[in-house]
Amino acid sequence: MWMVYTLVILLFSSTAGARNLLGRVEVPQYAFEGEKATLKCIFNLRATRLYSLKWYHNNTEFYRYVPTERKKHFTLQPSSVFTVTEVFRSEREVVVSLGRLRRGASGHYRCEVIAEHPSFRTEAAGAYMMVLAETLGPPVLVGGREIYEPTEVIKVGCQARVSSQPAPRPSLQWLIEGNKVDDRWVRPYATPHGHHGIALHVPGRLVAEEGGSMRAECQATLGTHRHSAYKVLRVRVRLISYLDDYYSTGTTLHTPGSRVTAVVAAAVVVLKFPY
Ligand SMILES: *[C@@H]1O[C@H](CO)[C@@H](O)[C@H](O)[C@H]1NC(C)=O
Repeated sequence: MWMVYTLVILLFSSTAGARNLLGRVEVPQYAFEGEKATLKCIFNLRATRLYSLKWYHNNTEFYRYVPTERKKHFTLQPSSVFTVTEVFRSEREVVVSLGRLRRGASGHYRCEVIAEHPSFRTEAAGAYMMVLAETLGPPVLVGGREIYEPTEVIKVGCQARVSSQPAPRPSLQWLIEGNKVDDRWVRPYATPHGHHGIALHVPGRLVAEEGGSMRAECQATLGTHRHSAYKVLRVRVRLISYLDDYYSTGTTLHTPGSRVTAVVAAAVVVLKFPY
């Protein structure tokens, strides 16, 4: 019987256009001890007027906005695990900032909106936020060299910084010149010491073809937090004079004055006639 009721309620509320008052609620998945977190509650006053908007942490109210109250529009409840400030308020959204986060600030954050008389319709939504003891640092790059030959494969490892506390592992990603690196040039690895990482395996030839130097970036991402470590991949581009000899034999590919063409062509020569 209960299931039938639940189903009827679900059907009814979805056809009635549920949550037409509350829009999106944004709570970061992760935050760091001592730092800040920004929470956003977006509402929609098309059909009705707002009676109140409240924020709760683990069911304890810490922010209240009641537009109809004359004097004080909003009230903050002091908390022992964070400080609260209202950052922004409009006819569409309320943004609050929590500061000096303590570990106890982990938990469920919920925004609740109540419509004006006569419906007093109530809608709420929220999400969990986890406060971690250690800030996310940039990842660590391992094993890279200063310069490579075009015939070599450039191998650079990237792993998340180890934290002394148990913490979720950030996701890692390689980019070259700002573009995500093709999967075939990236290999996940694990060390015997329990470090996990992803290694970039790029043929030096590809870098040589682009002029001999490219900027690689490894990003560590945890929720909305991101840190990067950078390395310039350098490949020796040789045989510029050899190239002149080569092309002086009569080919027309090389346009005088175009340095880029010369360098790319040089890389091709290197490939065709490796030492
Ligand atoms: C809130 O709940 C989380 C678990 O969901 C807990 O870790 C945290 O300590 C609680 N904080 C407070 C102040 O109740």
